[in-house]
Amino acid sequence: MPTFRIETRDHCYSAIVERGIAGQAAQFLPPRHGKVFVATTEDVWRHQGATLARGLAGVAHEVLYFPGGEERKRLAHVEQLAEEMVERGADRSSVVIAFGGGIVNDMAGFLAAIFMRGIPVLQIPTTLLAQVDAAIGGKTGVNLVGGKNLIGSFHQPVAVLIDPAALDTLPEREYRAGLWEIIKAGIIREPGLFHFLAEHSREILERWRDAVDCIIADSVRMKAEVVSTDEREGDLRRILNFGHTFGHALEAETGYTRFLHGEAVAWGMRAAVYLSELTGHLSAEDSVEILETIERYGPIPPLDGIPAENLLARLVRDKKTIQGRVHFVLAVRIGEVTVVSGIDEKLVIEAIRSALA
Ligand code: GLY
Repeated sequence: MPTFRIETRDHCYSAIVERGIAGQAAQFLPPRHGKVFVATTEDVWRHQGATLARGLAGVAHEVLYFPGGEERKRLAHVEQLAEEMVERGADRSSVVIAFGGGIVNDMAGFLAAIFMRGIPVLQIPTTLLAQVDAAIGGKTGVNLVGGKNLIGSFHQPVAVLIDPAALDTLPEREYRAGLWEIIKAGIIREPGLFHFLAEHSREILERWRDAVDCIIADSVRMKAEVVSTDEREGDLRRILNFGHTFGHALEAETGYTRFLHGEAVAWGMRAAVYLSELTGHLSAEDSVEILETIERYGPIPPLDGIPAENLLARLVRDKKTIQGRVHFVLAVRIGEVTVVSGIDEKLVIEAIRSALA
């Protein structure tokens, strides 16, 4: 059972990667807990609810449904569910289980973070993207019209249970979206993982068990190391935003409806690679290798009709922008990135245009 420890100043917990682990969920609930609320979507519950219900056998639990879709990751829904919890008798001893993809992990984590000033959350991610990124590290939140995840808080879970078997029913598009986050993990810190992805796309796209388990475990290890070093994104954790600053701009510009998060990140990584090359940080050779590998897991949905200038304007509203200075994570080589600010806007718009082409 690959288990990775996340150790922050105030919390210490495990992210466990194991087939069938969702069927053992009850073991990971905090001692002397009160009511258990499973926050999920109707779709996830229909496909996978039986597994979790088995894992909670003997533990009474109630199911709360979030609407799916990034455009509905909004404060109003969190408030609605908090009201529902109160009506159903929730108190400070209650626990939330976040059971779903990244949107559920973010929203349910945020619900737990603010309900009665904070109750425990157990994260059980069911999409690849959530398993390798969103559910680990305690970032929770919701979107504003003005930008992605602009309301939120850090709220570390009691554990993260990552069951690769949950991916068996994951639609192809969602699966590919998650693979792009794994490519990101390779680019920023794991050259071995990157080359494995570059060389074994057939096995990975066909979801061969060993290949899938291996790339998930590598990504989770990397994320656990980074979050344990820098929980609050003061320093090292910023590398996880490679491709995200551009990607968030794309998601917000298209009303959160046209691209899955992982697809926006794939496009954002393309823009980041072009910018890395234009600013002299990355060699043409590494740039081609990264772009080809991103492409291999494509296609990214069509990008027509999106004005480059609008994306540039949105970069400034990202929460990684500080006092008007946009901080870009740029690639130096495969497995190493750096954070740079003060880049000439002309180069940024050129990178955006190249990535949109
Ligand atoms: N998804 C980026 C982070 O967790 O910091």
